[in-house]
Amino acid sequence: MMPAPNSLCHAADSSPTGPCYRVLMWEQDALAPEALAQWATARKELLARMRDAGIKGSRGMLAQLENELRELTARAVEAPLVTCARSARLITRVGALEAALRADSGVLAYRFHPAALELLVQLQGELGVDALVAHWQAAATDVCWYPAPLVECLSPREAMEWQAGCRVAAMEQAAAREAEEEAETRPFHHVTVLAREAVDALLPAEGRVLVDATLGGGGHSELMLRAGATVWGIDQDPAARAAARKRLAAYGERLHIVAGNFRNAATLLAEHGVEQVDGLLADIGISSPQVDCAERGFSFLAEGPLDMRMNPAAPRSAADIVNTATEAELADILWQYGEERASRAIARRIVQERAKAPIRTTTQLAAIISSVLPRKGKQHPATRSFQALRIAVNDELGALEALLESGLSLLKSGGRFAIITFHSLEDRAVKRYFDRVTRPEIDRPEWPSPRPNPEYAARSIFRKPLTAGEAELASNPRARSAKLRVIEKL
Ligand SMILES: C[S@@+](CC[C@H](N)C(=O)[O-])C[C@H]1O[C@@H](n2cnc3c(N)ncnc32)[C@H](O)[C@@H]1O
Repeated sequence: MMPAPNSLCHAADSSPTGPCYRVLMWEQDALAPEALAQWATARKELLARMRDAGIKGSRGMLAQLENELRELTARAVEAPLVTCARSARLITRVGALEAALRADSGVLAYRFHPAALELLVQLQGELGVDALVAHWQAAATDVCWYPAPLVECLSPREAMEWQAGCRVAAMEQAAAREAEEEAETRPFHHVTVLAREAVDALLPAEGRVLVDATLGGGGHSELMLRAGATVWGIDQDPAARAAARKRLAAYGERLHIVAGNFRNAATLLAEHGVEQVDGLLADIGISSPQVDCAERGFSFLAEGPLDMRMNPAAPRSAADIVNTATEAELADILWQYGEERASRAIARRIVQERAKAPIRTTTQLAAIISSVLPRKGKQHPATRSFQALRIAVNDELGALEALLESGLSLLKSGGRFAIITFHSLEDRAVKRYFDRVTRPEIDRPEWPSPRPNPEYAARSIFRKPLTAGEAELASNPRARSAKLRVIEKL
């Protein structure tokens, strides 16, 4: 299984010296009972066929059935345990259980998932796997375990690979924690846009639970907290989370900070046992410190690595795209996400230049773009291309679409969904989706009369999007393109 973003990994220093067991144990209600029952039936059938194949000595058939069983288990049990956590209490209660695992010298590695624990053990004393599992389960007394954990025997080589995967994940987690701690010491200055308008639209009050899907520096969250609400703040940038944690420390337990991408908001919240909330805000885009920090590579004005990842652990940077995408792919990115009319010419020049040497820095790329597109007027010629690359690197439109599709399901009836956008591509997506779900009826030319809209689920709060007033524009020019749209779940 791949570790989930908030899994917790550990690998012991000692390596496997003989056969090992991989054990997967999980919380009783982590998987839907119907899905578990289906899996158990299919497994029983496969095991019966394996027994027959064994009796007949048909090795080929046996291997094929073993594969089928592995795939079935991966699909029906392992993958859902990582991606969807129905109860998800385990990850928040690892304390005593983790101590028991660390004290056991036979435990070579483990990964906690939100509602499951996967571990690698090499038997040492008299105790068999079942007795060990019972011992570990007893260390987490308040967790109700599914009674039949999965146990798989691994060869020393497979065990070594599994342990190495855990070791790498544990190192990455430690590096991310360190980066976040270090970020806490840096200044973070972001002026919140449409602060009052967006927060008031969510009706913050004591007892209401709100999600700030783009926590950033915590500007919107602070107003929600001040009004008495409980806030779940999501951000994929460790620097933003660190800044918000520091700024909002005074609100104690009413603020919960969650690392991750808002495209997975429903899963991230479910992992913490939150199923439905009273309001959700997303203030889409980047924060000022992300642009201002040359090291992050968002700005064509300052020399920096061509990075542009909001989540520094994301696999693909702007340099990766610029140096590996085909000319046609580059032109598409610049055209679709930057509406750059010179997209083909810029893509061609990028491909010519990178054939001489890889394009590594922001200013290098800006100079290449400027050589195709001389400056006209106030806007820097690289503005649209940098926006396009940033959107591609962070899959911003994909994340927004995913949030739109899942947002309403997170809301209670009467819950509010508010989105602030900064450019037409985002606003178009929000407008289209909000229109789709707020229209009671739909009509088509070929229909004799309008029909009820099966997606009708919300009402608009404002007839037109809200924009910044003069006072805000005077103090924060970044607010000039901001648009706030809000709907309320029926
Ligand atoms: C405009 S800032 C939010 C500022 C915040 N509302 C405030 O007032 O301080 C946007 C933040 O959302 C984060 N962000 C953007 N897209 C995201 C995504 N798909 N998932 C999680 N965080 C995201 C960025 O890292 C950034 O910190």
